Amino acid sequence: MSITISFICSSPFVLFILIFQQTKVKRMNIKTYTLFIFLLLFIAIQQIESKNEQPIKIDNHQQQQQLLDDSNYELGVGIWDVTGPAAETGMMGYAQPGQITEGIHFRLRARAFVFVDVNGNRAVYVSTDACMIFQAVKLNVVQLLQDHFGPDLYTSDNVLLSGIHTHSGPAGYSMYALYGITALGFYKENFDTICNGIVQSIIMAHNNVQPGRLLVEQSTLYNTSINRSPNAYLNNPEEERSLYQDDTDKNITVIRLENGQGDAIGVISLFSVHCVSMNNTNHLISGDNKGYASYMFEKYMNGNDSLPGVGPFVAAFGQSNEGDVSPNTMGPKCPDGSPCSSDSTCNGKNEGCIAHGPGIDMFDSTKIIGTNQFQKTLDMLESASTLVSGAIQYRHTYLAMTNLTVYPPFVQDPVTTCRPAMGYAFAAGTTDGPGAFDFTQNANDTQGNPFWNFISGFIAKPTQEQRDCQAPKPILLDVGMTKPLPWIPDVVPIQIITIGQIVLCAVPGEFTTMSGRRLRNTITQIIGQGIDNPIVLVAGLANTYTGYIATPEEYDVQRFEGAATAFGPNTLNAYLQEFSKLAQSIVDKKEVSAGPTPRNMTGHTFFFLPPVIVDEAPNGQFGKVLQDVESSYSVGDTVTVSFYGANPRNNFMTQSTFLTVDMLQSDNTTWRTILVDGDWDTRFYWKMHNLVQSAITIEWIIDPSWNYQPGTYRITHSGYAKPSMFSDKLVPYSGQSSEFQITN
Ligand SMILES: *[C@@H]1O[C@H](CO)[C@@H](O)[C@H](O)[C@H]1NC(C)=O
Ligand SMILES: *[C@@H]1O[C@H](CO)[C@@H](O)[C@H](O)[C@H]1NC(C)=O
Ligand SMILES: *[C@@H]1O[C@H](CO)[C@@H](O)[C@H](O)[C@H]1NC(C)=O
Ligand SMILES: *[C@@H]1O[C@H](CO)[C@@H](O)[C@H](O)[C@H]1NC(C)=O
Ligand SMILES: *[C@@H]1O[C@H](CO)[C@@H](O)[C@H](O)[C@H]1NC(C)=O
Ligand SMILES: *[C@@H]1O[C@H](CO)[C@@H](O)[C@H](O)[C@H]1NC(C)=O
Ligand SMILES: *[C@@H]1O[C@H](CO)[C@@H](O)[C@H](O)[C@H]1NC(C)=O
Ligand SMILES: *[C@@H]1O[C@H](CO)[C@@H](O)[C@H](O)[C@H]1NC(C)=O
Repeated sequence: MSITISFICSSPFVLFILIFQQTKVKRMNIKTYTLFIFLLLFIAIQQIESKNEQPIKIDNHQQQQQLLDDSNYELGVGIWDVTGPAAETGMMGYAQPGQITEGIHFRLRARAFVFVDVNGNRAVYVSTDACMIFQAVKLNVVQLLQDHFGPDLYTSDNVLLSGIHTHSGPAGYSMYALYGITALGFYKENFDTICNGIVQSIIMAHNNVQPGRLLVEQSTLYNTSINRSPNAYLNNPEEERSLYQDDTDKNITVIRLENGQGDAIGVISLFSVHCVSMNNTNHLISGDNKGYASYMFEKYMNGNDSLPGVGPFVAAFGQSNEGDVSPNTMGPKCPDGSPCSSDSTCNGKNEGCIAHGPGIDMFDSTKIIGTNQFQKTLDMLESASTLVSGAIQYRHTYLAMTNLTVYPPFVQDPVTTCRPAMGYAFAAGTTDGPGAFDFTQNANDTQGNPFWNFISGFIAKPTQEQRDCQAPKPILLDVGMTKPLPWIPDVVPIQIITIGQIVLCAVPGEFTTMSGRRLRNTITQIIGQGIDNPIVLVAGLANTYTGYIATPEEYDVQRFEGAATAFGPNTLNAYLQEFSKLAQSIVDKKEVSAGPTPRNMTGHTFFFLPPVIVDEAPNGQFGKVLQDVESSYSVGDTVTVSFYGANPRNNFMTQSTFLTVDMLQSDNTTWRTILVDGDWDTRFYWKMHNLVQSAITIEWIIDPSWNYQPGTYRITHSGYAKPSMFSDKLVPYSGQSSEFQITN
């Protein structure tokens, strides 16, 4: 590798990609090893040097509440942009080191819903277009809310933050190392954008609360999900499986929020399915199938002329227990179209076995799986008839998950959870995104490959005690044993919020289908003693992320979901026991203890992605057209234009856009913006050009179903450039294409 210093400075990421690509080749050379050692030593030194831990004050303000049979609420909805860096940033989800952001398909949003009952008790549910909510996000959001509203109104206890699990958003917003490693650490500007977006969505919802009612509807949705680890599911007891028709939850629950006039002002739809319709070759920021469903729903309610992300109607497609649920409904196949073997390999190799469908490509699949959820929810919004009534109540506690004793009846004899660790199948990935190395799911092979063995050995050698605790999981990454700080959270929150008979269980990770059913059944039995006909729901990837939660039987199979169940075989049983205590405390009208204090990781983070050094354009003309549009297009065509732009990391254009498609109005002078970068039909691509230049390409696919009018159009691009290497000053710029005609 002959790499000059200037090349490294101007394109640091290339270096890391080269390293990772090298590791795909079995023989890693000595230079690669050295670089890795340097990287990992640096991480270690950062952690050792980091300051003492500051305990966090937990506000455990909870009131005793009387159960009221009342269906009058005050309701508010809000929406805000959470789109982060659209260039050079590792994407969260597939842990594929070369999968970095290179543009935007459509923007990510936080969608907030504030509920207030007749006694003034309030709760907030936020569904965020992010892969998951990390602990630091929840802590920071609550702190920002308390700075804004004072200490009592919004607390850790009554704020529920859930992530939709898109795998096409920028990573780097976890302060714990494991979930930041492919983004090269903690990207503060991305973290701040997500936290501020969530807070702004809540403030908006808070400011527009109005009297209204809630209606709920439950149904089933088929053709939208499959189980991606069916042989793990099959290890659950036969008598339990026979209670259910399917090996994933087809249940869909829709909550309609309406104002005093009976008009819908918002909707929350919960359905369990991974947001992995966009696969690990995608580089465009996207909300995947649930983001698309929200986008379509809001367009439908706010009008086809409305721009995305500004309300007033807000539609959240929240995530639930999607742990083993894939949207790739044609199932896994080998490259030659033959079925994969039962361990999800093709000719003994992991990489080839990939699930596809139902569309012709990943964009089409996203659209189909999103449309299924959108259409079903729309029908259910219109037919929703069960009135929600009763008090708003909430319980929240932190658990020391590394050594929690689980007692009968949740287990036969008392057992404890373990310090977190990831098994070998964790590196195998899933059929939605296989790992790049030679690992197979439920493999037991500890000879492994040099890359992971090196990382694994660097972290910590698992002790015999840890191996026994985690058995039968063969430990690859002993993430709980890293010194001085674990790589994933060890103090973990659980939370229940009730809004009348709706009971939301906020789970700190990805429950599998059967884990979710066991939780809902357990909580229904208990809370049914205090609430009539409870509708118990799982709010997934909420408040903190700690990987998967498989049943002990699924854990025994050690496919990906079992290998990523961090706290050992009794993880689920521990949660069942502790969630039961929260539910019982609601029935008994008692408070619960706040539990141990989570670690404040501020100041314990690292970040290796260098800032933008400098942007350059020919003669400093940022916004100059590089390749112009043609003069005329027909409906169904794709309009393409490219510009000399700048690195979109300079300014994320929050609540704004990097592009507009404008239409000339009939006065022949004014332009009306009809599409922005939050729209499905446009794509914004960023590419490094001559090392220090940015080529921005904008596409508009003129979809016939949207009824675009014939006429004169133009496309504009705006952004911020950093013209000097020696100054942090950013300069706004814009450019526009020539005018072009759209004909029928
Ligand atoms: C975490 O610590 C930082 C500084 O050490 C402090 O500013 C911040 O308020 C703390 N966070 C919380 C949630 O207490
Ligand atoms: C699914 O929804 C149906 C109502 O459509 C309900 O009877 C059933 O209990 C639900 N199943 C689960 C597992 O929640
Ligand atoms: C699923 O789709 C197939 C064909 O695409 C159709 O025949 C079937 O009726 C659908 N099932 C449901 C429950 O909608
Ligand atoms: C991702 O989807 C594209 C089609 O959009 C397909 O060509 C490609 O093979 C898929 N790759 C993987 C790894 O699934
Ligand atoms: C777990 O907690 C028990 C007491 O509850 C203690 O005896 C034991 O040493 C602890 N184990 C670890 C690994 O910390
Ligand atoms: C896993 O490996 C161990 C030791 O190599 C062996 O004893 C055990 O039978 C293997 N288990 C499976 C499921 O292959
Ligand atoms: C706008 O331009 C078109 C064609 O160039 C012309 O037919 C039309 O009269 C103009 N409208 C106005 C309001 O000037
Ligand atoms: C909005 O656009 C959709 C196409 O995606 C179309 O089906 C619908 O009819 C349009 N609605 C109106 C009111 O034009």
